[in-house]
Amino acid sequence: MIKPHGSEVLTPLIVADSVRRENLLEEAKTLPQLVVNSAAAANAVMLGAGYFTPLKGFMNKADVMSVSAEMRMSDGLFWPVPVANITTSDHSVNVGDRIALRDPNVAGEPVMAIQEVESVETLSPDEIAQIALHVYGTTDSEHPGVATFKALGDQLIAGPIEVLNLSYFETDFPETFRTAVQIREEISERGWETVVAFQTRNPMHRAHEELCKMARDAVSADGVLIHMLLGKLKPGDIPADIRDAAIRKMVELYFPPNSVMITGYGFDMLYAGPREAVLHAVFRQNAGCTHLIVGRDHAGVGDYYGAFDAQTIFDNSVPDDALEIEIFCADHTAYSKKLNRVVMMRDAPDHQKEDFVLLSGTRVREMLAAGEDLPPEFARPEVARILMAHYAAEGA
Ligand code: ADX
Repeated sequence: MIKPHGSEVLTPLIVADSVRRENLLEEAKTLPQLVVNSAAAANAVMLGAGYFTPLKGFMNKADVMSVSAEMRMSDGLFWPVPVANITTSDHSVNVGDRIALRDPNVAGEPVMAIQEVESVETLSPDEIAQIALHVYGTTDSEHPGVATFKALGDQLIAGPIEVLNLSYFETDFPETFRTAVQIREEISERGWETVVAFQTRNPMHRAHEELCKMARDAVSADGVLIHMLLGKLKPGDIPADIRDAAIRKMVELYFPPNSVMITGYGFDMLYAGPREAVLHAVFRQNAGCTHLIVGRDHAGVGDYYGAFDAQTIFDNSVPDDALEIEIFCADHTAYSKKLNRVVMMRDAPDHQKEDFVLLSGTRVREMLAAGEDLPPEFARPEVARILMAHYAAEGA
C-alpha cells in the first residue's frame, strides 16, 4: 500500500491503550485547562486519527511561518497548511506546562487531548496577515476561512499532543466517520490497490458522480473512496447528515456494489482552495489512497481562486518528490444536451456554453428552497428528493 506521508507508518496520536488513557484523564484534572477553538479541536482530531502523519502536535511560530510561505517545516518536511493551536491572550499557559485541551464542540467541554507546551509565542498583526495571504491567498475578512482564522487570536501554543477522543465525530457519524487507520485497514481487507479519493463538502450531483466514475475508469481503480468533510462549514452549506444520506442513496442506486467506500473525516472547512487541495492530497495519501480527484474550484469559495488554481499548484509549487499520491485533474464537468450524458468540457470541444445544463450553487439552493425540482440532468431525482425534504423542513 502507498506509504504514509513522511513516515514508514501512520502515527495516529490517539491514545489506544485504555489504561494509559484513564491515567491521562485523571492527570488532566490536575492540569491547567484550555478550552480550544474549533480550528484547534479539528486539528487535534486529524492528528489523533492519523490523517496528519507524521506531525506530533501543534506547530511553533517558525514552522507556521515557513509552512505558510514555503510549504516546508523547519526540518524540511513538506506540509501545506499550518497545524496550530492559536488562542487569544486570555490564557495562563506557560512554557513547560502540560495542559488539558478541552473541546468547544461537545456539551460540557470535555478534555480531548493533553499538550506539552514547548513554546508560547505571539503572532504580530503583520504575521497574521502574511499567513492569511499565503494560505488563503487574501486577507479579506469577507473570506469565510480568513474570517475564522483572524478571529482565533494571536497566541501560538506549540508542542506535542496525546489525543483522548475524536470529539463528536464518532458519536454523531458512526457509519461514516473513519480514522486514516480504519480506512487503510478497510482498503486492505477489500484487497484494493488503486484507490481514487473524492473530496466533498456537498451532496453529490450527476457531475460529481460521473467525475468519480471517470477517474475510476481512467486509472483502472479497484474502488472509490468518497471522503466527505464532517466538520464545520459556512452558513448555507448543506449539513453533513443530509449530505451523507444523499450520498448513500446515490451510491446505492448508481454505483456497482462494493465499488465505493462512503467515509468522512472530522475537520472544519478552510475554504483555502489550492492550499487546502494540497492538504487534501496529504491526508488521502495517509488514508491509503493512490489518487485524489481535483476538479473545478476545489475547496474554493466566492471568486477568490481561479477555477483550476487547485490543480496548477501541484505543477508549480509541489516538488515532484513531495507526495506519492497522484492527482486526477478534472475539467469542468456537466451534462451535455447534445450527447445526452455528463462529460468533461475538454472532451466536448465543439460545444458552446448553452449546450450544457449548468446551474450555480446559489441557483440550486434557490430552487430547493422554493420547492422546485432540480433537472434530472443535474441531480439524480432520489438525491434531489432528500435535499428538498431538508429544505422543506428548514423552511417549516
Ligand atoms: S469542495 O469544497 O469539497 O471541493 P465540492 O464538494 O463541491 O467542494 O467538490 C468536490 C470535488 O468535485 C472537487 O474536487 C471539485 O473541484 C469537484 N467538482 C465539483 N463540481 C465540479 C464540476 N461541475 N466540474 C468539475 N469538478 C467539479
